[in-house]
Amino acid sequence: MGQRFSRISGWGRYAPAQILTNDDIAEIVDTSDEWITSRTGIRERRIAEPHETTLTMAQTASERALAVAGIPADNLDLIIVATSSPDYLLPPVSSMLQHALGASRAAAFELRAGCTGFLYGLSTAHQFLATGTYRRALVVGVELISRAVDWQDRNTCVLFGDGAGAVVLEATERPTGVLGFVLGSDGAGAEALIVPGGGSRQPLSSTVLAERGQFIHMDGQAVFKFAVRTMGRALLEAVECSGLQLDDIDLFVPHQANQRILELAARQCGIPWEKMYVNIARYGNTSAASIPIALSEAVEEGRLQEGNHIAMVSFGAGLTWGALALRWGEGPATTEEVFGRQPLHLPQRVLRSARTSVQKVRIQTTSRLSPLLLPLYAMSRRVRKEEKTGE
Ligand code: ACO
Repeated sequence: MGQRFSRISGWGRYAPAQILTNDDIAEIVDTSDEWITSRTGIRERRIAEPHETTLTMAQTASERALAVAGIPADNLDLIIVATSSPDYLLPPVSSMLQHALGASRAAAFELRAGCTGFLYGLSTAHQFLATGTYRRALVVGVELISRAVDWQDRNTCVLFGDGAGAVVLEATERPTGVLGFVLGSDGAGAEALIVPGGGSRQPLSSTVLAERGQFIHMDGQAVFKFAVRTMGRALLEAVECSGLQLDDIDLFVPHQANQRILELAARQCGIPWEKMYVNIARYGNTSAASIPIALSEAVEEGRLQEGNHIAMVSFGAGLTWGALALRWGEGPATTEEVFGRQPLHLPQRVLRSARTSVQKVRIQTTSRLSPLLLPLYAMSRRVRKEEKTGE
């Protein structure tokens, strides 16, 4: 088996229809449209209606992603759902989603890494595909966070919104898709973003409820500083370990937490603002859902073409961070697709010089191999092997 890659073949999103504007929030807590817009860039967010749940939102986004990929749910081998606001503590919403989709063959698990959950999920699914264990995975980021927010706390309730995004990841022999990633965690900052009650440490009780411990508590400035410290660094590391330069990236799809954080990260790294995909004004912070929602919008707006490079970056509760770079699209055809399984009888001289050229190029991943050299290189290796074994 040749080297395996994994590419995004389907994408979908769901956002509840109900819109809550900054002016609407100013009627609930002591705040203003001016304060929220200038401090965060958020103008409105979507709020789930009572009949909606984390599962229903995840299901709609997933069905849309499967439709784009053109595969039935029972072709899925794996489902990963990143969320911090599941329907229940038990069972995991991932199994509920697997059943609702009819993905009868799929393994499923829920993943919690705050807003970074989607990138943790994508990296994990990529491993399963790159090792050849599975061929098709669904990765979902979903949050119904409006029910975990304290609507008496202006420090947090203005920031968040509900939504879901999903991607289908498929194994491929073509050099495309996920190129590299970095993931990180620093639990020293655990209390900067915490729901203190309702877990095993402080089970729900009248005391927990009286202290509003079932809701999100956040040290906004600590999280802000952490984000500015980690985002740029993670992005640069992920791009570098993908064998790319920052200039090679055509579109940056960052976690949408605060526009000021994104502006600072872009300035730190020298990224032109027009290369950043930003939709925070319309959704607020949808936590684990924010990157797949943004990605799916970017594709539909025609911001991504075959061969483009994308970098995604996130930070969140934990505290955690992550960044991932990928090549968009189906990728160049492999040698076998072009020439069939039998090696073409090209002169040895041509094959040798192709091999030498490729070896001279110092690259870490196949992402930068030209579509012409790659098939020649693969073929020359096969011919050399056959020469050695005398076949
Ligand atoms: N409306 C009006 N005033 C407000 C509001 C509000 N909604 N919220 C806070 N204030 C007040 C504060 O009380 C404070 O008043 P004071 O000076 O009288 O004490 C003042 O505004 C300034 O407060 P700061 O906290 O210093 O405001 P800051 O400029 O830091 O902005 C914010 C706050 C927007 C929360 C910012 O710190 C931030 O975005 N932090 C990152 C948060 C984040 O991204 N969290 C999600 C992480 S991802 C995940 O895993 C879910």
